[in-house]
Amino acid sequence: MSAGTGRAPRSAPDWREVARAYDDGAAGYDARHDDRAATRTRTRRIDQLLIRATRGARRVLEIGVGTGRLLAQLDAPVRIGVDVSAQMLALAARRGLTVVRADGHALPFADASLDAIVSGKGSMRYLDPERALAEARRVVRPGGVIALHLYGGATWSPRGAARQVMRAETVTEAVTEAVTVTEAVTVTEAVTVTETETVAAAAAAPMRLWQPASTDALRATIGAARLTITALHRLRSIRIWPYLLTIPQPLDAGAPVQLWSHVVAVLRRDPT
Ligand SMILES: C[S@@+](CC[C@H](N)C(=O)[O-])C[C@H]1O[C@@H](n2cnc3c(N)ncnc32)[C@H](O)[C@@H]1O
Repeated sequence: MSAGTGRAPRSAPDWREVARAYDDGAAGYDARHDDRAATRTRTRRIDQLLIRATRGARRVLEIGVGTGRLLAQLDAPVRIGVDVSAQMLALAARRGLTVVRADGHALPFADASLDAIVSGKGSMRYLDPERALAEARRVVRPGGVIALHLYGGATWSPRGAARQVMRAETVTEAVTEAVTVTEAVTVTEAVTVTETETVAAAAAAPMRLWQPASTDALRATIGAARLTITALHRLRSIRIWPYLLTIPQPLDAGAPVQLWSHVVAVLRRDPT
């Protein structure tokens, strides 16, 4: 089963590896995510959805808080951020936020101790969805909100489709080079385009990230975590202004391919 479906038991990337990468990139993080009109516009629109979803909550936690650029925009009286990267947390602390170095799979908070949880810029993609959602559900109070931004796993575009075909050809060559002549003949003959693409994706992305491959896959993961979806905002990046389009639900439901590249999922732990 693919990484995007979220149903099969799966593991998250090693948090130490992720922390190291973010420690190294912490200094330039905010500037890097605010340097182009397209990035800035998308970030603001997505942030607004998350901020709106958690409005009125008193005690808010961000999982994978990073530099705190999102959490600092919330006006909750209690704002706590957890992250595995010490360097990112140091920047969040400078913004006056309460920070704790912790893995999102093991939150150091009592049951039902928070009113809302937020997670911006796809931080949750580094977590195992089943374990992370169960942990988020545990610490949020009954009736509390969990608002997450995630990236889509396999957005369709004409340009992307063309690139996939070209990439498949490249990988077939790479596989051929890497094995002995006899094996190479077998591999080349046996490999269909789909299988070749799988090899390409595995080689390019060794980390298993939670990037749902469809709305149905996302719904299944959330349902299994016993959380209720109150809103699903499906959004698609485009190159020209306005840089982000809303994909209406009927279009998403009828599409044979995934049209959205971002989703903001607003979830609720049932009141009882
Ligand atoms: C792309 S940044 C997003 C930061 C912030 N949410 C924002 O909106 O700007 C992802 C963050 O998730 C953190 N992260 C990754 N894996 C984590 C884990 N297992 N537990 C907690 N934080 C994690 C990273 O260290 C990084 O700071």
